[in-house]
Amino acid sequence: MSGRTPSSPSSPASPPRPAPPPSAPAPPAADRASAGARPTVALAVSGSIAAYKAAEVARLLIQGGARVLPIMTRAAQQFLGPMTLSGLCGEPVRDTMWDPAFAGELHVALAAEADLVLLVPATADLLARLAAGRADDLVTALALCAKGPVLAAPAMHPRMWAHPATARNVAALAADGRVQLVGPVFGEVASGERGLGRMAEPAAIAAAAFAQLAPRDLAGLRVVVTAGPTLEDLDPVRFLGNRSTGKMGFAVAERAALRGAQVTLIAGPVSLAAPPGARRVDVRGALSMRAALWQALGDDLRGADALIMTAAVSDYRPAEQHATKLKRTPDLATLPLVPNPDLLAEVGAARADLAGAARPDGSRSPVLVGFAVETASDEGVIAYARHKLAQKRVDMIVANHAADSFGRDDNRATLVTRDAADALGVLPKPALADRILDQVSRMCAR
Ligand code: CTP
Repeated sequence: MSGRTPSSPSSPASPPRPAPPPSAPAPPAADRASAGARPTVALAVSGSIAAYKAAEVARLLIQGGARVLPIMTRAAQQFLGPMTLSGLCGEPVRDTMWDPAFAGELHVALAAEADLVLLVPATADLLARLAAGRADDLVTALALCAKGPVLAAPAMHPRMWAHPATARNVAALAADGRVQLVGPVFGEVASGERGLGRMAEPAAIAAAAFAQLAPRDLAGLRVVVTAGPTLEDLDPVRFLGNRSTGKMGFAVAERAALRGAQVTLIAGPVSLAAPPGARRVDVRGALSMRAALWQALGDDLRGADALIMTAAVSDYRPAEQHATKLKRTPDLATLPLVPNPDLLAEVGAARADLAGAARPDGSRSPVLVGFAVETASDEGVIAYARHKLAQKRVDMIVANHAADSFGRDDNRATLVTRDAADALGVLPKPALADRILDQVSRMCAR
């Protein structure tokens, strides 16, 4: 399928375009990330049946905290309506360099805005034109003018991918080093045949995009993250648990790994895929989480620079764990429980006792971060957080409301430290993870 866009003025039927983006260059991605700003992705869609998946990629990018500027070739608009992308992105779809409503050079203005140019899907034709350095439409001109990385997700029939001409173009792009590829993958293509040429899945494309955008500012930092619930078994079929899904902890682990940290993720039972680059240790109950935690930290706590305890550790477990299923009896109306250890408080106490953990300024290593999920008012949540900060002897508590956090993709949290309470407002969990990691990184650098 051709991705070629005719170099002609906008059709008279085109809706009027909103104001152009400002052409002032944005600060580099690394500075923007540490400042909590949204990275900007120019998402260019070319003409392939896989174009419909670009809408899902846009959604995932936005969900992950990015701003998305949509661009479509005319051919792409045969496969996906521009209104879908402009509606999802909240930005006008650009499809030509010759927009009379835009004063200036649109490809230059977009390139100045974009921290990443993402080509989804990239047709055989687009790869050929990129390899040749063509700039005869908005997409290729933008790719040529990009100031940051360019990432392309090829999609085509396996015979087109295997053709020597495509192989030559891909090799030329690799040699130039200016366009990275994500996929294609082996699988079913539009014709129903199977082979190498299917576009990478939207989640993989979004993950690759975020990997390109991430600053490597946490390189060298060893971070242990706990996530999810703990499940406390009563017998082979029953357990005590809670509503934690693990999304927050997985987001912290994913962002930390993307930013270059060495990450150990200790996960209770959750149905989430391991974040790329993180070492995952699966556990079930609080006692097995405790064992994995000390294994990762080491008795002298020198195994990590930071511990981020997002896990909803069960405070109690059944006094007895039965090997066979309990039968219904009147005696079982009351379930005897015993308290679980407070894992974070144990580490906090151990750190306070370890002379070697003290830094010259009196702060201690590793940096310890806890979470507090409450159902109280905002003031009550912060008061509880301050109490937990002191009681568990940690450096920061991420305080939030159960209704704002459990199972959701975003969260409204306050970062409570000894001297401050920074209310962050509602953020997607990856963006909140970045803010937590920014603070952890500052504390580690003290
Ligand atoms: N935590 C822990 N071990 C436990 C319980 C909690 O390490 N047995 C950690 C959690 O990972 C989280 C923080 O401590 O970082 C939450 O503390 P806390 O609010 O005390 O847990 P809750 O059970 O919610 O406490 P409470 O019932 O007092 O509100």
